[in-house]
Amino acid sequence: MSAILLTGGAGFIGSHTAVELLNAGREVIIADDLSNSEVSVIDRIETITGKRPVFIKADVADASVVEAIFASHDISAVVHFAGFKAVGESVAKPLEYYRNNLDTALTVLETMRRHDCRHFIFSSSATVYGDNSAAPFSEESPTGNCTNPYGWTKYMIEQILQGTGKAYPEMAIAILRYFNPIGAHESGLIGEKPNGIPNNLLPYITQTAAGIRKQLSVFGNDYPTKDGTGVRDYIHVVDLAKGHLAALNYAEKNTGVQVFNLGTGTGYSVLEMVESFKRVNNVDVPYAIAPRRPGDIAECYAEAKKARELLGWHAEKNLDDMCRDAWRWQQNC
Ligand code: UFG
Repeated sequence: MSAILLTGGAGFIGSHTAVELLNAGREVIIADDLSNSEVSVIDRIETITGKRPVFIKADVADASVVEAIFASHDISAVVHFAGFKAVGESVAKPLEYYRNNLDTALTVLETMRRHDCRHFIFSSSATVYGDNSAAPFSEESPTGNCTNPYGWTKYMIEQILQGTGKAYPEMAIAILRYFNPIGAHESGLIGEKPNGIPNNLLPYITQTAAGIRKQLSVFGNDYPTKDGTGVRDYIHVVDLAKGHLAALNYAEKNTGVQVFNLGTGTGYSVLEMVESFKRVNNVDVPYAIAPRRPGDIAECYAEAKKARELLGWHAEKNLDDMCRDAWRWQQNC
């Protein structure tokens, strides 16, 4: 059987996707340089699924390494997760972000062309919608005006993929715009491990509940939202992983470029998240209102119709599941 290559497959979303692909009977090869993940994730994926993915420690910006992977394996599709993803860091290190994120995508695509590998699934982000229009964002909503280099790399790679799909109509490319992935596998064996002080809300909440951080800063309570705090479309990472399997199944039956939002379609405020987390897990999360964080928008949630109609996929887990699984992982990791 031909295999699915997951670049960055040892990371948060990649590892959960590996589990779903293996559970669906797919062969999985993970190529990851472990710059933001740990090799023990491979054992954990095996514990969960009973199957061991092939693991190759590799930087997929290195063309000779990627060529060697394709030359020695029968790869029918790539799910491309590899890339730098910290918004704040991208502002401080723009060149590193543009170089790494564009190089990895281009190198993998060029190698796929040489080996006539036709299916490409890309991790994009709702950040490409910027503040061009108001939520809910549909796939047709305007993109651009990104507020940081990380967002621009996603935007630019989307352009590269549109051009690639046009030039090579036999290819099938799915651009997946993630909203806010949170939670962890219900086994408690895999989840998100942020480096240092977390930037994102949920890891900050779990670390505060665990006593690692003193209190959560709520960035702004004067937005035009239900309670003044920022509203986001949080999606359970296992639902998101299943969205990749659905996109792969779709790409294998179709050609061309398709963009899909992967979100729930529902927005929750920061204070709603804090209150749900406290209630579900029966723990305290001390917080204080702080100034707005530069670059944040008031509301970001998906119009989730297209994925439901074309992929037959929708998010099934609710906020309680997300809070419970995130806390279980925090206590295990
Ligand atoms: N927030 C706080 N305190 C914190 C952290 C976050 O109040 O300590 C608030 C933010 O102001 C925002 C909400 O919680 O209102 C969510 O913030 P996150 O940092 O968790 O997520 P963002 O929506 O800012 O960004 C996420 C990903 C990006 C991606 C973007 C897509 O981190 O990679 O979604 O919209 F680009």
